[in-house]
Amino acid sequence: MRRFGTPLKSSAIKLLLLGSGELGKEVAIEAMRLGVEVVACDRYENAPAMQIAHRSYTFNMRDGAKIREVVEKESAGRRTNFFIVPEIEAIATDTLVELEKEGWRVIPKASATRLTMDRQGIRKLAAEKLKLPTSPYRFASSLEELEAGARAVGFPCVIKPTMSSSGHGQSVARKPADLKKCWKFAMEGTRAHTGKVIVEGFINFDYEITLLTVRHAKGISYCAPVGHIQIDGDYRESWQPHPMTKTALKKAQTIAKTVVGELCGKTGRGIFGVELFVKGDNVLFSELSPRPHDTGMVTMVSQTMSEMELHVRAILDLPILEIPCKPGASVAILAWKSMKNPVYNGIAEALKIPGTHVRIFGKPEVIGHRRMGVALATGKTVAEARKKAMAAARNIRVVTS
Ligand SMILES: Nc1ncnc2c1ncn2[C@@H]1O[C@H](COP(=O)(O)OP(=O)(O)O)[C@@H](O)[C@H]1O
Ligand SMILES: [Mg+2]
Repeated sequence: MRRFGTPLKSSAIKLLLLGSGELGKEVAIEAMRLGVEVVACDRYENAPAMQIAHRSYTFNMRDGAKIREVVEKESAGRRTNFFIVPEIEAIATDTLVELEKEGWRVIPKASATRLTMDRQGIRKLAAEKLKLPTSPYRFASSLEELEAGARAVGFPCVIKPTMSSSGHGQSVARKPADLKKCWKFAMEGTRAHTGKVIVEGFINFDYEITLLTVRHAKGISYCAPVGHIQIDGDYRESWQPHPMTKTALKKAQTIAKTVVGELCGKTGRGIFGVELFVKGDNVLFSELSPRPHDTGMVTMVSQTMSEMELHVRAILDLPILEIPCKPGASVAILAWKSMKNPVYNGIAEALKIPGTHVRIFGKPEVIGHRRMGVALATGKTVAEARKKAMAAARNIRVVTS
């Protein structure tokens, strides 16, 4: 039986966050509610989770040597009750694999963070090893290969750097002549410069969902489906529960169980955001996050246990018996131009709408455009919750101070 100790004392359970954004901030809050000591790391100072953590370190998460140094220092060599929790994709995953081999716990599991960091890893696992249905796809390392790949999957097609997130470098080609621009855009948007893209057939889905799936001590549980809208590959709005036919829901859960089961084996623990495209009763696997998902922020109001609380419970082998849900919605609050020290107008107006909540992440600056907060609402129906969350978000303006 795990003993829960006192933060900042030798008995403390420690959680080391690699990446300290808005999702990490909520994970930190949930962990702290159980008396866990939280150490937050990110590449810039005053990242959201750092602002509430017990301690923080500023360095690039791709710096494996630095990760090791912090792990060794913070754990003082202790492997039990010390959890390394990746919060972003771009991490020195080889170092995580080594640390895990040496006995440290990586959430959900080092191999899962490595496989999902690269679209090629997770797509091959899902489609080729596990034989799950996906969009038709090819990988390409040059414009010529992209042209051949696009011919194979057909037009329109979606082109994405193999290492990217939040829609960076992603574009749609409607005809062969578009490919040159798409290739260039992908090469500029890639985070790791793998020089590689995935080209996928464009799926004309009825809707897409995130099926939050949690692997805990007693097995696998699902949250109610989260529906969402993405613009340019970036999340703008989500809601829960999204209605699905019994057949489609069953298929979605089976896909989630297959891939999460494979990634976790016997020892992996944590929540996953399994992204699925649905057309009629057909369900396709798209991709997955081995951590809380941005579209899942709605669970901060729609579930009594948010996706972050579920993540923490799973990490600590605590019971997850049922996951009740009521209608809720979330709308991203965006800033549209670069600025330091942003200011938020309209929060009081937003909160005049009954059943509405606002979370401001506290990001110290904006470069280009950035998600800065989220408006959340509950309602008798999802439609009502969406309307309220949208109205609340529209009230809030991020401006220069
Ligand atoms: N093959 C596809 N067909 C149609 N829409 C797609 C396809 N791939 C991605 N999209 C849209 O773009 C969004 C972002 O793509 P995704 O692969 O999830 O990238 P990211 O890692 O940036 O989230 C998806 O949620 C979906 O709305
Ligand atoms: Mg996605």
